[in-house]
Amino acid sequence: MDLDAIDLSDMEFWARPWSERNAAFATLRRERPIAFFTEPPIGDFPEGPGYYAITRHADILAISRNPEVFSSAQGAVSILDMPAEMNEFYGSMISMDDPRHARLRRIVSGTFTPKMLAKILDDVQTTAIETVDAVMDRDEFDLVEEISSPFPLIIICDMMGIPPSERAMVLAQSNIILSGGDPEFIPEGEDPVMAFIGAGMMLAELMNGLAAERRVTPTDDLLSALVNTSVDGEQLTPEELASFFILLAVAGNETTRTAISHAVANLGMNPDQKRIWLDDIEGVMPTAVEEIVRYASPVVWMRRTLTQDFELSGHQFRAGEKVVLYYGSANRDEAVFTDPDRFDVRRDPNPHVGFGGPGPHFCLGAHLARREITLMMTELLTRLPGLELAGEPQQLRSNFVNGIKHLPVRVRR
Ligand code: HEM
Repeated sequence: MDLDAIDLSDMEFWARPWSERNAAFATLRRERPIAFFTEPPIGDFPEGPGYYAITRHADILAISRNPEVFSSAQGAVSILDMPAEMNEFYGSMISMDDPRHARLRRIVSGTFTPKMLAKILDDVQTTAIETVDAVMDRDEFDLVEEISSPFPLIIICDMMGIPPSERAMVLAQSNIILSGGDPEFIPEGEDPVMAFIGAGMMLAELMNGLAAERRVTPTDDLLSALVNTSVDGEQLTPEELASFFILLAVAGNETTRTAISHAVANLGMNPDQKRIWLDDIEGVMPTAVEEIVRYASPVVWMRRTLTQDFELSGHQFRAGEKVVLYYGSANRDEAVFTDPDRFDVRRDPNPHVGFGGPGPHFCLGAHLARREITLMMTELLTRLPGLELAGEPQQLRSNFVNGIKHLPVRVRR
């Protein structure tokens, strides 16, 4: 694709096959690593001021390490500035700077104690086994529907004490929030912004109801710990709790789903890598998990906003300008990764930024996500080694999640 024909603001770009998208990012890294794009109007949102796409690994590291200059709080971490009514549900710690961010992260991390994590990680294993049990006698199925979509959802719901009867609702609403307007999730004709606000409201209501119950009758779940914990006398307010839950439901669900879907798709397309992994499932696991996250790069980007004028890699930025960090591009930067388009389960070192760059917002759930991928891949490789692709992976039309909507697979016995 010609450099000047690349337009990251055009949804048609994100409908292109992965190979074309990756080639376009390679062109940007090589020829225009800090590239300006306009922000055309979307629905009721007026035209925005535009943003710089940051596509090289080194620049993303430098920006992530400098949150005083590159703020997460001005506007939002989405490309669009969030309208005030959305901040009520979506104003979570991911779009705050220190000291507000540090306060929330401290309270939340205080509940992710070793004891709580040990219980969650036990549950992850049980859920992985049960999820695979459900497909053991099927010859053909959609891996996304049967495995990679329910699995992380059940884990987040169990963590937060959400009853099984509400899982489908949580899945549908988090799909709307992350869909980036894919018509399969937002019916044609419905205003995406209204659908987005409605989804936030439904999740917040669910959480408020459950939190009220846990305040009176605490159980052993994370939600009980969250509502009853206090760090230096500080507790989460009900609004903060609802926003945090929405962040977890959104950040912990589709990301892990995307990683697992890509893992199976890439093993299907690279039988040599599958052979290597099958020959030593446990030994190859640590490098394979990192490679899955690098190669899938489930979160395509996060935004930062300049708090002051600043020069980076010869480019002079002005205060107030937006930069968008393209993690998937950094993860294929040939300056850092040898043969970056190759899926290599033994890649080492692998300094990918799939969980974000080094800095205060580095993924809170990285440990849990690695564990989820490890346990699910262990189940799939040991119990269904004959799993193979039965059709093309169907790409999600989103500029934000590098998703797979459907992945037809069959089991060779
Ligand atoms: C493969 C799976 C995952 C990927 C690729 C991923 C990716 C990311 C990325 C790129 C960020 C950085 C945001 C920024 O710098 O602005 C982030 C933050 C975050 N992630 Fe994850 N994530 C995954 C799984 C999870 C899980 C399972 C959870 C929770 C259960 C989670 C919870 C969070 C939270 C709460 C933040 C915000 C942290 C903060 O602002 O301090 N993530 N994630």
